[in-house]
Amino acid sequence: METLINTPLAGEILDEIIEKHRGKPGMLLTTLEEAQEKNPLKYLPGETLVEVSGKLNIPYTQVYSVATFYSYFNLTPQGKHTVVVCRGTACHTKGSKGLLDDVTALLGIRRDVDGADSSFTTSDNLFTVRTVACFGQCAQSPVVEVDGVIHSNVNAQKLLKIMSRIKNGKTEKK
Ligand code: FES
Repeated sequence: METLINTPLAGEILDEIIEKHRGKPGMLLTTLEEAQEKNPLKYLPGETLVEVSGKLNIPYTQVYSVATFYSYFNLTPQGKHTVVVCRGTACHTKGSKGLLDDVTALLGIRRDVDGADSSFTTSDNLFTVRTVACFGQCAQSPVVEVDGVIHSNVNAQKLLKIMSRIKNGKTEKK
């Protein structure tokens, strides 16, 4: 059985994506975007960057620069569910550090780094926990985004409820 870990896109899928965007304005960005979307672990493995570089005839350094410049792109496998904890000043003063500690402890993630834009994925690839500098919703701090849904005025109890819903297989409503 095919493992999801470090699985580049099958060659023919990547070829289709490349052909779809070839020659169009912004083809590198749109190709990388679609390649990441179609990857089961929502990331761009090194093999994909090499293939895109070779097949679009764009220097690898340029492909790599684009993939690392935009925070949208992931170079490591992402979890099935994503929890993003805001670590901006407003959220920090309302306890976002505690929320980050709670959610990572709940998921058994050991954090060595606690800076903005840190990203941690559980070993079973079920959850990725990330931080951002600000969601632009400071009036409702602290703010946490779970699977694309923004939750405001989050406290430990609210976060625990959200996480148990997700762990019980419920999806967040957008
Ligand atoms: S600091 Fe958290 S939303 Fe602005």
